[in-house]
Amino acid sequence: MPKPITRPPEVGTEDVLVGSSNSAFPLPIRVCIDRGLGSRVWDESGNEYVDFLLASGALILGHAHPRVCQAVTGQLSKGSAFHALNRPALELASRIAELPGCVQMVRFASTGTEATLHAVRLARGYTGRDKVLTFAGSYHGSHDLSLIGHFGVAKATSGGVPRAATEDTLIARFNQIDSVEEAFASHSSDLAAVLVEPQQRSLDPSPDFLPRLAQLCQSANIVLIFDEVLTGFRLAFGGAQEYYGVEPDLVCYGKIVGGGFPLSSVAGRQEIMRLADPALGSSPNFVHISGTLSGNPVSAVAGLATLAELEQPGVYDQLHRLGGRLRAGLSQQLNAHGVGASVIGSGPIAAVEFSDLGSPGSGQLLKQAVNRELLLRGVLVQLLTRFYISLVHTETDVDFAVDAFGAAITAAVERLAVDEEARLVQRVATRT
Ligand SMILES: Cc1ncc(COP(=O)(O)O)c(C=O)c1O
Repeated sequence: MPKPITRPPEVGTEDVLVGSSNSAFPLPIRVCIDRGLGSRVWDESGNEYVDFLLASGALILGHAHPRVCQAVTGQLSKGSAFHALNRPALELASRIAELPGCVQMVRFASTGTEATLHAVRLARGYTGRDKVLTFAGSYHGSHDLSLIGHFGVAKATSGGVPRAATEDTLIARFNQIDSVEEAFASHSSDLAAVLVEPQQRSLDPSPDFLPRLAQLCQSANIVLIFDEVLTGFRLAFGGAQEYYGVEPDLVCYGKIVGGGFPLSSVAGRQEIMRLADPALGSSPNFVHISGTLSGNPVSAVAGLATLAELEQPGVYDQLHRLGGRLRAGLSQQLNAHGVGASVIGSGPIAAVEFSDLGSPGSGQLLKQAVNRELLLRGVLVQLLTRFYISLVHTETDVDFAVDAFGAAITAAVERLAVDEEARLVQRVATRT
């Protein structure tokens, strides 16, 4: 198992790489990853980590899975990109279209961001309406719409989002169907779509929420879009549609579907999807969806190899069992340490929500401190998002992470107490 890291291997790259990261959620220690194999990664200093970040959940088979490597190397020697119809993309589209639920037709893009953006455009093209309803605290990628409403009001949490975008966005509250009904009561005639994460940020929907949402959308002819970038092929092979038994009109896949390579898709009912057919180019209903590397054959073979593994018997039982073990272990540690926090998630997902103790923001501070200590104990995870379980994780890996979590809480609490004391001393010193 990984050994504790005594000297954090921080890599200073601010001069060239903004924020030393390619993510809005950088790790609290700037480790530079050198390689990965199975459930492990190693940084440039040779430190080993059990990986629960897994490329933000894309690698459900772990790193360098032999079947994915074989498929990818086989395809590379035949060409890496065509921007034209190719057999792997066609096969992957057929595989997705076989899923139970709303998927009849598929269109590829490269990222989850693009998939949700295209789905919204399809919904607007189909209904001829502009407004879109999303949920406070949801995430749908890096486009304007996704960055509006995080705190429950139609306001952007990023610079550079035009005011006009906020005007066309309505915000409801996840699991509170009355907030959706309220929005529908005044806007159903100008609402194009409801865009929802069926499991929002690791929070399960209450039993009636998604069925009622689907009913409401159907009766007002509003397109229901499930953003399954995270849940697709993870909660079940058929994603949240299968897991919760609710059918939207459009569904977005990303992460797992590309097997660790850039690929995403928007898919759904034929009547809506057909609007993206370039043969409609001169019609006002035509919806533009395009991308230089969309339907990339290397990503497509990686996706096909991944889905083939996920179709093996017992796979989802294993993922759910390990996820349950992790959640139970994390909860036990929180209880044992008397920390106010809850563990949420289902299936191969676990997230920890720390409560504020006294001052606002203290929960987030503790979360960051625990995350740092976890990294120092050889557990690679982004607690701002969640732990992802893969098929190559073992019970030993999970138990290792749980023990490290307990030790990380102790160390983080001590560290924050020392910092607080230092701040107090400084305050007194500046006064005298
Ligand atoms: C639910 C959801 N939608 C969309 C996205 C955006 O995907 P990408 O980062 O590939 O653009 C993410 C990314 O984490 C996501 O979790």
